[in-house]
Amino acid sequence: MTFEKNILCIGAGYVGGPTMAVLARKCPLYRVTVVDIDPVRIAAWNSDELPIYEPDLKEIVRATRGKNLFFSNDIPGGIRDNDIIFVSVNTPTKTFGVGAGMAADLQYWEKTARQILQHSRSSKIVIEKSTLPVKTAQAMENILQCTNSSISFDVLSNPEFLAEGTAVKDLENPDRILIGSRETESGLKARETIEDIYANWVPREKIIKSNIWSSELSKIVSNAFLAQRISSVNAISALCEKTDADIIEVAKAVGMDSRIGPKFLNASVGFGGSCFRKDILNLVYLCRHYGLSEVADYWEGVVKINQYQQERFLLNMMTAMFNTLTDKKICLYGFSFKANTGDTRQSPAIFIAGRLLEEKAEVIITDPRALSNARSDLAGMEGRISFVEDPYAAAHGCHAIAVLTEWDIYRRLDFRKIFDGMIKPASIFDGRNILDHRQCFEIGFNVYPIGKPPLTHF
Ligand code: UDX
Ligand code: ADP
Repeated sequence: MTFEKNILCIGAGYVGGPTMAVLARKCPLYRVTVVDIDPVRIAAWNSDELPIYEPDLKEIVRATRGKNLFFSNDIPGGIRDNDIIFVSVNTPTKTFGVGAGMAADLQYWEKTARQILQHSRSSKIVIEKSTLPVKTAQAMENILQCTNSSISFDVLSNPEFLAEGTAVKDLENPDRILIGSRETESGLKARETIEDIYANWVPREKIIKSNIWSSELSKIVSNAFLAQRISSVNAISALCEKTDADIIEVAKAVGMDSRIGPKFLNASVGFGGSCFRKDILNLVYLCRHYGLSEVADYWEGVVKINQYQQERFLLNMMTAMFNTLTDKKICLYGFSFKANTGDTRQSPAIFIAGRLLEEKAEVIITDPRALSNARSDLAGMEGRISFVEDPYAAAHGCHAIAVLTEWDIYRRLDFRKIFDGMIKPASIFDGRNILDHRQCFEIGFNVYPIGKPPLTHF
């Protein structure tokens, strides 16, 4: 069968995999190939156990794989055979040298640009999908244009706004698609080509176009604004705990202002995930680079409040448990950074588990999807840690439960049964405010929500 378009994606991670699976599903006349340097990851994409968990993803991959969706390790071949190349390789925070702990580590990105240059035999449209510092496209263009070949490259920015746990839904029905390009004749033509791909399933009025720098910056700023909302509500949750106000009531009252809106106002133990912290630090670094220290400090506050919220949660646990956690058995309900994913990158649970171990507590971890990631995150940490699939068995014999992920299954547990198996006084620290606090209190628990007065029997 000949296909209308041949599309390549370099990077088969949390962004590249689901994005290309949905693209293949929506565009049966396009041939979509996803390549990665990691052979284990590609083998997993080609198996029944996909490397990431996302609701509905397995079904989509099953329906398209081998028909118009292909996963492969052949990066040179992929580059040669496809003229539209999405790039979604990882851009973690730099851990060394200049900008360590703040700037984006662009080594994978640059290597990809060089690979594209080396293996291209025809002109290409190269699309940045990963979140990148503004002006990265310039660096990519400089690499791609450094030889005198007749092959040309148009570099575009088309950031992905999907959230984990709802990736398929977000991809199928996005709020917007943003495509940034150079405003040259060939840049605008390339932009149209990409617009036509999305127009297969996204209404044209939702596809917005901009210059390339606005597009790169919009992605980082969207994440910064989202994280800022969470840090805002979390900061106020601390004040609620001091004043007997209730953060759920406050967030409801505030969110009903149509200018503010109700979403993303759930106070929590802190935000995690691979994007928010990384992107804000990246923004902060960029502002400092341009001499905008006040702007940098303003955004850095969002990350500081997030660290404060996690530490505050731990200190609240300690205070409630008679100022010592030594030898206490604490069960963590949830380890992933949010519900409906097994991803644990930057999960507050890593920090909380680490601090509990420092305090010489025994930590028992349960999570429906993230136990294998939890095992590798905590490998090498000193102390007593166990991983238990069943939440009832996990809490058995414990002094306290800390709810760290808002998995639905935790709302439906039989807390009387759980209480009966625990050491008394038994406490629940609800880092997501998902449980029925009054009911847990009436069963006998001391209950410590976020941003609400505790319910205790003392
Ligand atoms: C985020 C952006 O939402 C997405 O648009 C972007 O493409 C990637 O980064 P993601 O990190 O996958 O997506 O998940 P998100 O739903 O944004 O949650 C991030 C963190 O914030 C999670 O730890 C979540 O539990 C927390 N959160 C979210 C809260 O604590 N309170 C809220 O009200 C919402
Ligand atoms: P994201 O959450 O942004 O999708 P991931 O870390 O999940 O990030 O995925 C990025 C993927 O990119 C990884 O599977 C990694 O192996 C892959 N990758 C990194 N560098 C290259 C490269 N030069 N060529 C191909 N794939 C790469």
